[in-house]
Amino acid sequence: MGPSPVSLSGVDASETPRVPTGLPEVDRVLGGGLVPGSVVLLGGEPGIGKSTLLLQVAARLATAGSPVLYVSAEESAKQIKMRADRLGASSAGVFLLPETSVDRILEAAASARYSAVVIDSIQTIASPEGVSGAGSVSQVRECAARLTVFAKTTGVPVVLIGHVTKDGSLAGPKTLEHLVDAVLSFEGERFHAHRVIRALKNRFGPAHELGVFEMTGTGLVEVRNPSSIYLGNRTVSRPGAAVLAGVEGTRPLLVEVQALTVVSKFGMPRRTAIGFDATRLALLLAVLERHGGLSLSGHDVFLNLAGGAESEEPAADLAVVAAVAGSYRNRALPPETALFGEVGLLGEVRAVTDAAIRMKEALSLGFKRVVLPAGNAAEAASFPDLEAVPVKSVEELLVEIGRA
Ligand code: TYD
Ligand code: MG
Repeated sequence: MGPSPVSLSGVDASETPRVPTGLPEVDRVLGGGLVPGSVVLLGGEPGIGKSTLLLQVAARLATAGSPVLYVSAEESAKQIKMRADRLGASSAGVFLLPETSVDRILEAAASARYSAVVIDSIQTIASPEGVSGAGSVSQVRECAARLTVFAKTTGVPVVLIGHVTKDGSLAGPKTLEHLVDAVLSFEGERFHAHRVIRALKNRFGPAHELGVFEMTGTGLVEVRNPSSIYLGNRTVSRPGAAVLAGVEGTRPLLVEVQALTVVSKFGMPRRTAIGFDATRLALLLAVLERHGGLSLSGHDVFLNLAGGAESEEPAADLAVVAAVAGSYRNRALPPETALFGEVGLLGEVRAVTDAAIRMKEALSLGFKRVVLPAGNAAEAASFPDLEAVPVKSVEELLVEIGRA
């Protein structure tokens, strides 16, 4: 008998069942929990907290019922036990396997009915038949491929830890992105305690979803209201600060945007952006110069999203423009004001998505006014307690924020 295609209408696509990890911030990023048979890659810089996070996840899963296999090719069982004690995660249902051979790992994984298998890390395990050593691109791919077959055939979800560096010098995990079902990135600043996990790719859920944690002396603690950390200790509005009513994934995130403009000492003005695209900043500065009458070409401009936040959404433009204008004019924005909106090259302010989510969050955090695109003004009607200031252009924005 040849292959037998099935009719599309006859395919059962009812909601994939999921296994909640017990950490709601992780489940949010996964799209509701681990999908049976799926392979998830958790990438992040060495020392960011990947082992810590997955040990906590393993303990939660095990406590909820089924045992978890935690394979460590980097640390001894004793080292992991010490960490687990510190985390309060010494669950009887977490089984440790210090092992580097993928053959032996697969053998162990198949020997019992585990609810999940964690591999720490994909770069430190190897297939003994391979010609190259652990960590080489061919070994990383070979091991990941074999673990993927295991996941698909048994239905046991597999989570792979992959070390990556900012400059991408550890290329291994990059080459796995198309092979796995979900790629999660664990990020944070060395000098900030909070950590962000985001879905870069997810076959079974929304991409760009965000989970926020704080690294404490007893492991990672979920941050249920992330805006609170990014707004930090704002007491008064200062020149150069503007609050962005942002959205990451489906989640609102209020972030303080800070700008500093100073007269350039040298011919070429410096433009530096942290947490925001430098090209986009250059473009917005050109718009401010041309349509806002700010003569920025003789000024160095520094931009920073407070608390190590990052934003890639166009809706951040209005807050960036307001922050730069505020610093340049040395005028603070009206207090308790949040902004969102995209700025076009013609100086026009364009409507953005998720306006209601942004306003709801601003209101719940005690903001009184929101500056938004005129194209989103209708959505402000549902928020009578929030003073809406619709603007159509950068000129209008500058007039509005100059009124304070
Ligand atoms: P780790 O999970 O080992 O990072 P990775 O697996 O990504 O390399 O965590 C490393 C850092 O986290 C380490 O510098 C110590 C810190 N840490 C805490 O601050 N609190 C804790 O409870 C734990 C377990 C680690
Ligand atoms: Mg580790």
